[in-house]
Amino acid sequence: MSLLNFSPNNPDNSDYPESVDLSGGGFALRSPAKLNLWLRVLGKREDGFHELDTLFQEIDWYDELEFRPASDWEFTVEGAEGLEGEENLVCKAAACLSLAAGVPRCGQVHLRKSIPVGGGLGGGSSNGTMALFGLSRLWGLNWPVSRLEPLAASLGSDMNFFLHGGLAHGSGRGEKIEPLKSAYPSSFLVVVPHFGISTSQLFKIAQFPLTDSRKSVIFHSHVCLFDNSDCWLEGLSNDLENIALGQFPELQVLKQQLLAGGAQAAQLSGSGSCMYGVFKDEVIAERAARGFDPRYKWRVCRGISRR
Ligand code: C5P
Repeated sequence: MSLLNFSPNNPDNSDYPESVDLSGGGFALRSPAKLNLWLRVLGKREDGFHELDTLFQEIDWYDELEFRPASDWEFTVEGAEGLEGEENLVCKAAACLSLAAGVPRCGQVHLRKSIPVGGGLGGGSSNGTMALFGLSRLWGLNWPVSRLEPLAASLGSDMNFFLHGGLAHGSGRGEKIEPLKSAYPSSFLVVVPHFGISTSQLFKIAQFPLTDSRKSVIFHSHVCLFDNSDCWLEGLSNDLENIALGQFPELQVLKQQLLAGGAQAAQLSGSGSCMYGVFKDEVIAERAARGFDPRYKWRVCRGISRR
């Protein structure tokens, strides 16, 4: 549960996300989740990653990160088990920024988790990116986004998206980001199964063929996205979904239930495990949500943009 009241308080650097000052010094940032409105896998690359064509949408489901000055490094997590280790992208981001800037890794960073782990909502990547923003500010570097980009890209494929947020087209490994006009004004009902899915495992099972020339992809017209019609829903697709459905048949049941509950479309986000439905408004989405077995966690979210 959020303990913080966020309001715009970001006078120094307009590229940076909104923060809230903490009593006793330091500040907090929200760390948002994302959905992939579409995700096309163009093929496997020589470096083992996959070439993607994806549309990211930032949503209003947040973790929170608190940053306080300290002479040593201390990282704590609440709301999820086993995330305090050095493999957490927050710790990796801190080490990476400290090395790049030639300053010691220091500060007290506290992560309050709400976004499901292994859900395809990008929570871990978002935490890593927000740590780059937060530590850049805490250490007095205030690096612009353009200077944080190569660091974020080296740490994870989804991390660059969270430097920009909103609605954005992703290509390459997912790290090449083209921010788009505004958030899509739908309500999304995100349903969380009781299991997570490992992205690398799912790609391994999928066995996509090697690609050396990019297939031509019809990038759904941006005009169509914003013309207030529902034609963008036809572009909704996720090449990882069938593989995930094959591994976890329960996901098919969730998808069907979202559609039966009035969703205009329903699909897996990223590599899953979360299924989401697109609804005309949040009243219909909430009604559909109440039809799910209580063992499923769910949340009705809005697409957001930062500016
Ligand atoms: O970049 P990131 O660390 O988030 O990726 C996790 C794993 O997902 C990679 O190690 C890789 O196995 C797989 N992946 C991929 N192609 C991408 C993104 C991720 O194969 N474009």
